[in-house]
Amino acid sequence: MGLISTIQVSRGVVTGGIVLALSGTIASLAIPVKLFGESRRTPAPPGVGQLLGADTPPGFVDDGEGVQETPYGPLTAIDRDFVRRVKLAGLWEGPAGQKAQKVGGTPQVKQAGKHMVDGHLDLNVKDARAAQLLKVDRMPNEPNDEQKGWLSQIQSASANQFDRTFVNLTREAHGKVFQVLAYTRAHTQNSQVRELAQTADVTVRDHMTMLELTGLWTGEATQ
Ligand SMILES: [Fe+2]
Repeated sequence: MGLISTIQVSRGVVTGGIVLALSGTIASLAIPVKLFGESRRTPAPPGVGQLLGADTPPGFVDDGEGVQETPYGPLTAIDRDFVRRVKLAGLWEGPAGQKAQKVGGTPQVKQAGKHMVDGHLDLNVKDARAAQLLKVDRMPNEPNDEQKGWLSQIQSASANQFDRTFVNLTREAHGKVFQVLAYTRAHTQNSQVRELAQTADVTVRDHMTMLELTGLWTGEATQ
């Protein structure tokens, strides 16, 4: 905080006499600011987008429809992309989780599969509700090509490779989704999207935790 702005802050909270007494050093000027908890003039911390080094979330697909006004606040292309991607996540994680419940080699893998199935069933209901309220069209009805590729690897993995393939592919995908929802939650001005992002945040954290508890996540990119 600079000298002038600090003096401006001080004027609002201390008497003129004290301002005069503070005309000495910059160090002494910092004291009343801290005492009164002034933060409005402090530069904002970097947003998630800046931390991610991008102006849009990873993998963002622009539908070209710009910002739409809704009763729940402005709805951006990033918001709509998020609503569609929540459904996309369930479209491939559901089958992947079912397969893990059926053929997983350890109780932890089976349990992770169950959390994925149950979590996305619940999230899909809330996502569909948000899509309806916000009139988001072009909702996906099948996994995208990348997700189909992951599903194919999981479905065709041999018995002794299944657990490792399932855990690493799904954990890596969740890491990407986690970045998308953090960006969306940080930036959205739409209350329905924010609520959906809050729910998705809990679900994604749970799935990452369950997958990590299997002890098979290597932390390395699988592709
Ligand atoms: Fe998930």
